[in-house]
Amino acid sequence: WGELGHATVAYVAQQYMSPEAAKWAQTVLNDTSDSYLANIASWADKYRLTDEGKWSAPLHYIDAMDDPPTSCSVDYERDCPAEGCSISAIANYTQRVGNLKLSAPETAEALRFLVHLIGDLTQPLHDENYEVGGNGIEVTFDNYTDNLHSDWDTYMPAKLVGGSSLEDAQGWADSLVDEIKTGSYKKEAATWIKGDDIGDTVVTATRWAADANSYICTVVMPDGAAALQTGDLYPTYYNSAIGTIEIQVAKGGYRLANWLNTIYSQKITQS
Ligand code: ADE
Ligand code: ZN
Ligand code: ZN
Repeated sequence: WGELGHATVAYVAQQYMSPEAAKWAQTVLNDTSDSYLANIASWADKYRLTDEGKWSAPLHYIDAMDDPPTSCSVDYERDCPAEGCSISAIANYTQRVGNLKLSAPETAEALRFLVHLIGDLTQPLHDENYEVGGNGIEVTFDNYTDNLHSDWDTYMPAKLVGGSSLEDAQGWADSLVDEIKTGSYKKEAATWIKGDDIGDTVVTATRWAADANSYICTVVMPDGAAALQTGDLYPTYYNSAIGTIEIQVAKGGYRLANWLNTIYSQKITQS
């Protein structure tokens, strides 16, 4: 996701953090503001662009080697290479955030990665190898020529919300939380975190990745990539996709909060 998506994942998560875990995260991040997770949610995307941080670029995705739109699947052994992927990184940073022996700056860095990578994992094209996660599929959206990946990351969310500021993210998060509490996500939200287990992060994150990857075959390119290139993606394709963008951002926030709450409670049990 772009900055809007990551900040929205973070604001949704903030609304589901336990008071104790919220306080702990604010202390670790040295930020007692009401945007303590949103403020760091896109740090990893800036870091990957620096010389020091370019090693971390592969940690933002897992390149599922399936064959959409015929077959969609994620297989950790098949799809996560030796240099790492989002799933191995989430396992590593989960362990590090929970590690009592790390210094405060080390814990803060691990938390910045985890907040970002759990968000990226819900973007279907971050769980897909085809044309470098859609980066190589040139399309037109709302009269601009760009690529399918950036439309999913950035331009379709911005079209929905009408801006990309932290305030816009806060407003979007509030509406997603309403859907979880009393609206269309109420019945299913519990299933988003069902079986999540910080004792088996690879299995849990692989399930999250397979869930996102499944939308490649049903929503992102149900008729293949060629069908996308025949006209402007706005409004017909946008209308077919925006509901998936919304639910995936909501899932990211809901899962992130539950994950951090669990890491924190395990951490205090050990101390
Ligand atoms: N680079 C290679 N594969 C990618 C993907 N699935 N998403 C983003 N960047 C990538
Ligand atoms: Zn992306
Ligand atoms: Zn990213």
